[in-house]
Amino acid sequence: MAYGLLKGKRGIISGALDEKSIAWKVALKAKEEGATFTLTNAPIAMRMGAIKQLAEQCEAEIIPADATSTEDLENLYNKSTDILGGKVDFVLHSIGMSPNIRKGRQYTDLNYEWFKQSLDVSAMSLHKMLQTAYKLDAINEWGSVVALSYMAAQRTFGFYSDMGDAKALLESITRSFGYQYGRYRKVRVNTVSQSPTVTTAGSGIGGFDKFFDFAEATAPLGNASAEQCADYVVTLFSDLTRMVTMQNLFHDGGFSMTGASEEVVQAFLESRQNA
Ligand code: NAI
Repeated sequence: MAYGLLKGKRGIISGALDEKSIAWKVALKAKEEGATFTLTNAPIAMRMGAIKQLAEQCEAEIIPADATSTEDLENLYNKSTDILGGKVDFVLHSIGMSPNIRKGRQYTDLNYEWFKQSLDVSAMSLHKMLQTAYKLDAINEWGSVVALSYMAAQRTFGFYSDMGDAKALLESITRSFGYQYGRYRKVRVNTVSQSPTVTTAGSGIGGFDKFFDFAEATAPLGNASAEQCADYVVTLFSDLTRMVTMQNLFHDGGFSMTGASEEVVQAFLESRQNA
């Protein structure tokens, strides 16, 4: 059911790689709620072609941009404001990549060049997106910027390699820039800390399947899906959440506040009895 929450709003949505992507679902929801927007992704991701299908569905134009390049980001904002007919009201940062995870490097055996890339692509890119918009004054007053995070920013998950540090930086940039942009143009900046979700980035993490099941059994509401995440993000783009900024907002079915669920303890006891 659509509520017209984003009627008349213009935006930029990054990170839709294929139909499993969280950004893909956000784009469909944003369209359903009445927004017009441009889609963007790294030029290399465009070659896969899936984004074109989404663009047709959403009647959106695609503007390639490597989120680590301020030049590409300037072009992204300039073209988006031209195409959409004015400054934007919302921006989605749905970008993450760790060469260390891709190549199976543990946290105690990181390649530092790759570590820099993880931080640059997954966290500093948010600063670049915000700083570029700030300098171009490309976001309307009371606009909303949302980035996607994961709870490894607060608590350690052994398998998450250097991405825990990247997410901690992402959330810190959210607070620091949220303060600046709030004062400058009343633009709000938040992260949504999402449950494990079956996507290309998610499934690329070693042991993801087992952890997905563990989180599902721990959270009282179970894992939040990508569609549910999109619903939440749309509320953050809407005028209903105008005074929410600089926050990390958990969207995880209660996982982050649960110590141990009865289901997980029971499974642990049974496995010990059978050992
Ligand atoms: P995804 O693989 O569909 O999306 C990641 C996107 O980042 C891709 O579209 C990729 O092309 C883009 N990207 C990578 N390098 C880029 C660059 N240099 N410039 C521009 N774009 C670039 O996976 P998913 O899961 O939808 O990821 C979106 C966000 O959600 C990421 O920040 C991820 O860390 C976060 N997240 C994912 C969770 C999961 O379990 N899947 C859980 C919590 C957060």
